[in-house]
Amino acid sequence: MSMRLKDKVCIITGGGSGIGRATALLFAREGARLAIADKRKDAAQAVSQECARHGVAAIAIEMDVAKAADARRMVDETMKAFGRLDVLVNNAGTASPAAWWKPRSRRGTTSCPSTCAAFFCAPNLPFRP
Ligand SMILES: NC(=O)c1ccc[n+]([C@@H]2O[C@H](COP(=O)([O-])OP(=O)(O)OC[C@H]3O[C@@H](n4cnc5c(N)ncnc54)[C@H](O)[C@@H]3O)[C@@H](O)[C@H]2O)c1
Repeated sequence: MSMRLKDKVCIITGGGSGIGRATALLFAREGARLAIADKRKDAAQAVSQECARHGVAAIAIEMDVAKAADARRMVDETMKAFGRLDVLVNNAGTASPAAWWKPRSRRGTTSCPSTCAAFFCAPNLPFRP
């Protein structure tokens, strides 16, 4: 691996399994420091430990992306642990087909299958991209 993410700090929601876990392990191999956020604490901890075995720092954050307060805490805990935030992977969400057809606006974000992730993406960042 070419360590393209060396020392970058990355949050991955839904990092406890599936696509999120695979992304976390890839990022770890690329040298990223990771916050594994998941509503299943045990899964987040297991993946953060797997990442740490690649020699990178990783923390587990138990949270629910559908809760704005959890999203804010997730960013706060990441900033506290690493002092910066470079990458957000808004992976956790729901895939309800009905949601596509009932968009609702919330603070400039649009409700859709990735609604919950969009929650933290816009209002809770310590910076604006
Ligand atoms: N796998 C696919 O083919 C596919 C296709 C299209 C979209 N997606 C979307 O990609 C995302 C990941 O898919 P996957 O197959 O890896 O799913 P998965 O079920 O394997 O993993 C999802 C992870 O997100 C966590 N999670 C679920 N709801 C959460 C919440 N509210 N807050 C925090 N964490 C939560 C779960 O605990 C789990 O660890 C999902 O949003 C899914 O809808 C997947």
